[in-house]
Amino acid sequence: MSSRYLFPSCIDLVNPDTHSGENLVGIFRGLRQKSPIYWYERDEKRFWVVLGNKLGTDILKRPDIFSSKYGNVIDTLLSGGDPAGGKMLAVSEGKRHKEVRIFLAKYFKLANFRDHTASLPSNCIERLKDLTELSQVDIISDYAKYIPLDVISSIMGITDVGMKEELYYLANKSLSDLNDESLSVYYRRQFIYLLSQYLSTLSPGNMVHDLQRSDLELSTEELIYNCYSLFIGGEETTRLTIGRMFYEFATDKMLWRQFKAQRHSCEQAADEFLRVGCSALHVARTVVADCDFQGIRMREGDVVSIWHQSTNYDEEVFSDPYSIDLLRTPNRHLSFSSGPHVCLGANLAKYEIASALEAARSCLGDIELVCDPEHLRSNFLHGYSQLKVKLCQ
Ligand code: HEM
Repeated sequence: MSSRYLFPSCIDLVNPDTHSGENLVGIFRGLRQKSPIYWYERDEKRFWVVLGNKLGTDILKRPDIFSSKYGNVIDTLLSGGDPAGGKMLAVSEGKRHKEVRIFLAKYFKLANFRDHTASLPSNCIERLKDLTELSQVDIISDYAKYIPLDVISSIMGITDVGMKEELYYLANKSLSDLNDESLSVYYRRQFIYLLSQYLSTLSPGNMVHDLQRSDLELSTEELIYNCYSLFIGGEETTRLTIGRMFYEFATDKMLWRQFKAQRHSCEQAADEFLRVGCSALHVARTVVADCDFQGIRMREGDVVSIWHQSTNYDEEVFSDPYSIDLLRTPNRHLSFSSGPHVCLGANLAKYEIASALEAARSCLGDIELVCDPEHLRSNFLHGYSQLKVKLCQ
């Protein structure tokens, strides 16, 4: 590609309000037909916007050119880099990244998280049944929240219910209350303070305890940053995907009937909600040396962002991408990213979403939308902060 296409200046990708709703899916579709990558320049903010699935995948597989070590979301990269760079798995590279990842990956293998998820299917059913007694529920805070929260707390050894709820509240606030950046910083500090208190109460037998005492010799700062990322990674995106699944079922009765009639495993359906939901809107990298990548001239220091509401709908990779196909296979969405930083909790997240799907199929007759949902305000997390529905038996 010789010339570089400019991203339309009327679309403010950095502004969280641009991302409520699904309108960017259609906008990206038109843009993708012309080019898989654009140069964004607006209000002194400059970065590459990758829309093509194949190009995005290729970029994610080349950490030697496109590094995560300065940050992996546009907000931190445009404001001088992530303070956790080199200290937290998602924003470190090379040997340290590999060592910490190998250590943590053990805990996220299906056979190893089974102890923490054994009661999940029956808990989902019980909770849903209780909720059918009510005239309306907020599916996000009354149900979806508990699925990942219970599991990640169990894995991390957070047994105190008050602490669990407090961490959830603070994590939530620090990520989506971007109306006021100083408020987000305040909540993040409170969250980190509470985490550091929890570290001192750890008892043997859980992942964080093992990590703290491992040969990796993590500093307290590294330990806290990694706990922060595991708690947030474990909780936020999964909850949002489950919320999206309830919304789709409540608004598309044909989809709901089709799902109810199917008898196979819910794993594939979970993947399809991950594809359309795009609960992580983008990931970003920094170019570490001038290069010509697939004919695109890039400079050292350029920020490159990959947008899932485009890559997950790319016609080159998905047939009929705008329809929800619960049996879609293969499903090469980038919701979990790709390459060395591919989501560590992907199997766990899929298991949690599939459990929520199984429970909905087995104990709900219908899901009715009570009012329009409220959207989360963020440029990197996508989904509903509130979704009121009536659950019918
Ligand atoms: C719907 C659920 C989830 C989604 C959409 C999601 C999305 C992602 C994405 C996009 C990345 C890659 C970031 C990058 O390339 O820069 C990532 C990495 C990561 N995720 Fe998830 N995630 C989910 C669930 C989980 C769960 C349940 C955990 C477990 C606690 C988790 C822990 C992590 C960690 C630790 C990383 C960093 C991996 C590394 O850099 O090597 N995530 N996730």
